[in-house]
Amino acid sequence: MSDDVSAVPPAPPHNAEAIDAPPPDSPAAAWGSRIGVILAVAGSAVGLGNFLRFPGQAAQNGGGAFMIPYFISLLILGIPLAWVEWTIGRYGGLKGFNSAPGIYASVWRNRFAKYLGALAVLIPLSIYFYYVLIEAWCLGYAIDYLMGNLNLGTDVDAYGDHFNGFVGANENGALFSGKTLYILAATFALNFFLIWRGVDKGIETFCKIAIPAMVVLAVIVLIRVMTLGAPVADAPERDVEAGLGFMWNPDFKALLNGETWLAAAGQIFFSLSVGFGVVINYSSYMKRRDDVALSGLTASSMNEFFEVCLGGMITLPAAFIFLGVSAGTLSTFGLGFNALPNVFAQMPGGQWFGFAWFTMLFLAAVTSSVSMLNPVFAFLEEALQIGRNGAVAVLLVLGILGTGTIAFFSEGLMVLDTVDFWIGTFALFVLALAQVLMYGWAFGIEKGEREMHVGAHIRVPRFVQYLLKYVSPAFLLIVFTAFCVQNLPDRLSALAETENRPALGAVLGVLGLLALIVVTIGVTARRWDPAELEQKTATGEIA
Ligand code: ALA
Repeated sequence: MSDDVSAVPPAPPHNAEAIDAPPPDSPAAAWGSRIGVILAVAGSAVGLGNFLRFPGQAAQNGGGAFMIPYFISLLILGIPLAWVEWTIGRYGGLKGFNSAPGIYASVWRNRFAKYLGALAVLIPLSIYFYYVLIEAWCLGYAIDYLMGNLNLGTDVDAYGDHFNGFVGANENGALFSGKTLYILAATFALNFFLIWRGVDKGIETFCKIAIPAMVVLAVIVLIRVMTLGAPVADAPERDVEAGLGFMWNPDFKALLNGETWLAAAGQIFFSLSVGFGVVINYSSYMKRRDDVALSGLTASSMNEFFEVCLGGMITLPAAFIFLGVSAGTLSTFGLGFNALPNVFAQMPGGQWFGFAWFTMLFLAAVTSSVSMLNPVFAFLEEALQIGRNGAVAVLLVLGILGTGTIAFFSEGLMVLDTVDFWIGTFALFVLALAQVLMYGWAFGIEKGEREMHVGAHIRVPRFVQYLLKYVSPAFLLIVFTAFCVQNLPDRLSALAETENRPALGAVLGVLGLLALIVVTIGVTARRWDPAELEQKTATGEIA
């Protein structure tokens, strides 16, 4: 896979300093090009979070005022943490590790590092379980638009009924008797094919085609929305300008509410795929002198362009123009799968704009979901030493088990929402905090700054290192504490009171079993132990 595998590093000197010696030039598997890794990380970041989650979060949390905590979180947490992940990922990769336990163990020579790494494997795997399901819905909707099956008139409820039937929300097990199951199987097949092909031939090649296609498709839909005028005859005041105002007019009172800040920080993590265990894995396939500083900034900027300029300008303004203020109260799925199809039905040529929109969403979701699978694939390959095919096969079994459980217990989408909150929000905070502490206090900001600038095309200002050591963890702790105080009791009592206990029990059982499997593998894999690492460093096996 690598174009540079023959570059075997010289053995480092056998002394204590060897631990900190510069790593070799290239990992065993590598990206095919510099732009490839940037597009892959951007592809991981740009996803359903940008187009479905962001507009809903902004509208429900103060509109334009939401952008204040959003940009503060981007600057204090998002971009600096992305730099950390790019830096430690490349560092660990050059020591021969693509999995989080290995990368963390090389950054923090402590026997607990690999357990933290197990968390960075469980997070992307668990998010994948439900993310791929939503991805399949997008494919299903794109196919339905292509076939002309989604013009259900102007009644929002008709779209709600269609959606509930399509995703099996009416009762547990419903999805297993409908066509959605075949679409899910096809989506799985595409994801696993890309993983099996490898980072360069699979993921990179796909992202190089998908991302330009996503830009074209999103811009087509954006132009259509921006040229709508005031299409609803009995509501002439609902024009494009009013739609943008509805999304962006600031409600500064929202800034006094802790939840607004939590939502903003959570959105930054989810959207940039930071705290996911994803960026460390992707950057571990980089070469020693591949830039991480400008690449990290570029991938983050691309994500913000998709999120703010495209996601923020399309979904909610369009829904407001056709549906009025009730659009602001819709859930993420309500907005994406009920309101927007209704909007498309009222536009001339709506079938084709609907097709373009859901195809774009599907592509965006694929480039994200493969980024959740690859860290787990790398973990299995590295720990079990069972080769590429073996690791893909084990991953497929885990994927079918997890997604199958969430897909089966589909009633009211309660299980999906629950996993999304506990893993897609809560666990991301925990991992991001652990990771920034590891970088600032165990790896050290001096070494971190040196590593970050190897091959760098820009200089990251020095204050970013101090920010990472003191400000980012403090900000995270404050937000996290507020989160626990304000939201946790309600969340826990909601769990305790749920009527769909078998579903919750099943998903907890599956996630618990997976945690046990991953941690057991972590315990038994000696290659990530500090003593093993020291020994390999001393013998020159790793730098
Ligand atoms: N970062 C991905 C998204 O926004 C997970 O959907």
